[in-house]
Amino acid sequence: MAPKSFKLNTGQEIPAIGFGTWQAAPGEVAASVEYALRVGYRLIDAAYCYGNEEEVGQGLKAAFASGVVKREEVFVMTKLWNTYSGRAEVGLDKSLRALGLDYVDLYLVHWPVGMNPRGNDDRFPKLPDGSRDILWDHDHVATWRQMEALLPGGKVRGIGVCNYSEVYLKQLLAHAKVVPAINQIENHPALPQQEVVDLCRAKGIHVVAYSPLGSTGGPLLSSEPVAKVAERKGTGPVAVLLSYHVARGSTVLAKSVTASRIKANLELVDLDAEDLRILDEYSERLVKEGRVERYVYPPFGINFGFPDKNEGRALPNGV
Ligand SMILES: NC(=O)c1ccc[n+]([C@@H]2O[C@H](COP(=O)([O-])OP(=O)(O)OC[C@H]3O[C@@H](n4cnc5c(N)ncnc54)[C@H](OP(=O)(O)O)[C@@H]3O)[C@@H](O)[C@H]2O)c1
Repeated sequence: MAPKSFKLNTGQEIPAIGFGTWQAAPGEVAASVEYALRVGYRLIDAAYCYGNEEEVGQGLKAAFASGVVKREEVFVMTKLWNTYSGRAEVGLDKSLRALGLDYVDLYLVHWPVGMNPRGNDDRFPKLPDGSRDILWDHDHVATWRQMEALLPGGKVRGIGVCNYSEVYLKQLLAHAKVVPAINQIENHPALPQQEVVDLCRAKGIHVVAYSPLGSTGGPLLSSEPVAKVAERKGTGPVAVLLSYHVARGSTVLAKSVTASRIKANLELVDLDAEDLRILDEYSERLVKEGRVERYVYPPFGINFGFPDKNEGRALPNGV
């Protein structure tokens, strides 16, 4: 039987499947969050940069008010955005206010990146030439120290990271007093990031997989190996792609603003060794052929796997 939750290095239990809120448009997200809680999700993933935390908070509030769930029964995580990388507590307080909460279960560094806090936009500052206003000398370990300093205040129950490649994770772990509870990464058979998953496992960092369907569908949902596993299990490709992570010992984030899909996405199946072999073989083939694909988010022109290849602008500076 697939586990319903996993234990973090903080002692907290994190559900095996969570509800994502990225690209959930205003007017849709509050109702989606409330509905998700009503049908059984107990993990909500938010972020300052999604620009909808207030509505996520409205959805939570509605579910609390109607008695669907109590605050302590929901695992809420949100993220410190790049323009707040030098002022973690300011970022956290903004998120808590927007969400209408007095604590989050996990607070995460969204990217190991700093962006200009005094730029032309609070979330996505750009330079006059249209490129991202990145702080190329940003020290992500200094941000992590600020995250660690949040723990005694009680506004966060745990801290973690997102989008940490192997090289960044090693830099962080060499200096961290608190090992991140999770690393939230884009993960699916077309982007296995096996070296990151293996390092996280070895260090007791739980992997949370985002964009499991490839974000907007795309080739993953119609790929032949996924269809083959779906047929073996008498289910559809979505259930296979979500269940894949739980079978690998990771939590998976599913996002939808469509009621029928929100509910259906909870129907995970138990994948066996042969199912995983089919999917792993697909991943290995894509890696071998150089066809692994990141479906979401331009990584800001930064080479996270090889920071020394950023046209001489090594990240992080001084670490
Ligand atoms: N830490 C990070 O940097 C980061 C980055 C990206 C995402 N995330 C988190 O991970 C969550 C999930 O990732 P994601 O939103 O990129 O992508 P995803 O879950 O891979 O895909 C979402 C898309 O799939 C559609 N969909 C959902 N269920 C479906 C179903 N049963 N059948 C067909 N289509 C379906 C949704 O459509 P509808 O909504 O229209 O139904 C939406 O267009 C995000 O919402 C966010 O919370 C984190």
